[in-house]
Amino acid sequence: MNAIVDRERVKIVEVGPRDGLQNEKQPISFEQRKDFILDLIQVGFENIEVGSCVSAKWVPQMARSDELFAQLPQNPAVSLSLLTPNLRGLDAALAVGCQEVAVFTAASESFTQKNINCSIDQSLDTFSEMMQKAQDHGVKVRGYVSCIVDCPYEGAIDPKQVAKVVSRLFDMGCYEISLGETIGTATPDRVKKVWEACLSEIDPASLAGHFHNTYGMAIANIYQSLEQGIRVFDSSLAGLGGCPYAQGASGNVATEDLYYLLSRMGFETGLDEAALMHASRNIDQVLQRPNPSNFAKAYRSL
Ligand code: HMG
Ligand code: MG
Repeated sequence: MNAIVDRERVKIVEVGPRDGLQNEKQPISFEQRKDFILDLIQVGFENIEVGSCVSAKWVPQMARSDELFAQLPQNPAVSLSLLTPNLRGLDAALAVGCQEVAVFTAASESFTQKNINCSIDQSLDTFSEMMQKAQDHGVKVRGYVSCIVDCPYEGAIDPKQVAKVVSRLFDMGCYEISLGETIGTATPDRVKKVWEACLSEIDPASLAGHFHNTYGMAIANIYQSLEQGIRVFDSSLAGLGGCPYAQGASGNVATEDLYYLLSRMGFETGLDEAALMHASRNIDQVLQRPNPSNFAKAYRSL
């Protein structure tokens, strides 16, 4: 009898509809955002960040994310999450029945100030209040820490400072903390130091990697993270996006390339390759620009 060997699973959190589209210069309609997410559901993603409940003056592309959430098919096997900076954002997410939200701060004071107009301590105080309310409603809370290696305003960030902020989010009840390499300048040696600092305090199962690809290092940094035992990664289809408060930073690692790395290394991702490529083509047609993913390009030329 043949033994069935289970492949080790890696969780991919698709953040294209939020981290990707938030920074898009051209207008993207509500229907285009919705179609994008419906395509992603067909691919088999179990975790999709669908938008953010932030000020539409600060991030216009994310306006009406709560309405968008309300129009999506709800399936307990697929977590559709919303980014929420404060109680007002959480209330908007709760009002549409969202079961998972993400709070976000940074390891850099200057970035936190530019991004959410408060200090790191103030952001964590706000999140504590939100956590209580989220728990009362049975809603899961994910945490983000930006600028884990470099900050666009302060330069290099001490890995100990990253570990401190990560631990505070974990202690207040975030079930998973995503470490954001916001500006894509990191190399694997520096990423390793950040994981070492964090893993001395927190189990790898509660940590995720979020790598932007400005200098083409995201896949190398993800490989390093896999070596450190990390099994959750954020990515954006077609490498969409960036952060409006990190000038010049490019999008996340392309989901297509992350999928190629993981699937060819023998990890289970739960994604359907043909559906992934279909979704990839569709979003390229909406945006009318070349896809930066090497796998997407190679697949299409076959
Ligand atoms: P503020 O100006 O300090 O707050 O902004 P405020 O309370 O004075 O409110 C200002 C205005 O926003 C008011 O409206 C509020 O009503 C409204 P006005 O009176 O001027 O008409 N407001 C809201 N509207 C909708 N939803 C809300 C909300 N809260 C207040 N929740 C605030 C503080 C956090 C709101 C603002 O700074 C903001 O929206 N920032 C946007 C931050 C953001 O979305 N950044 C990008 C995502 S983070 C990221 O990309 C990094 C990540 O990917 C990881 C990585 O790569 O590193 C996660
Ligand atoms: Mg990001």
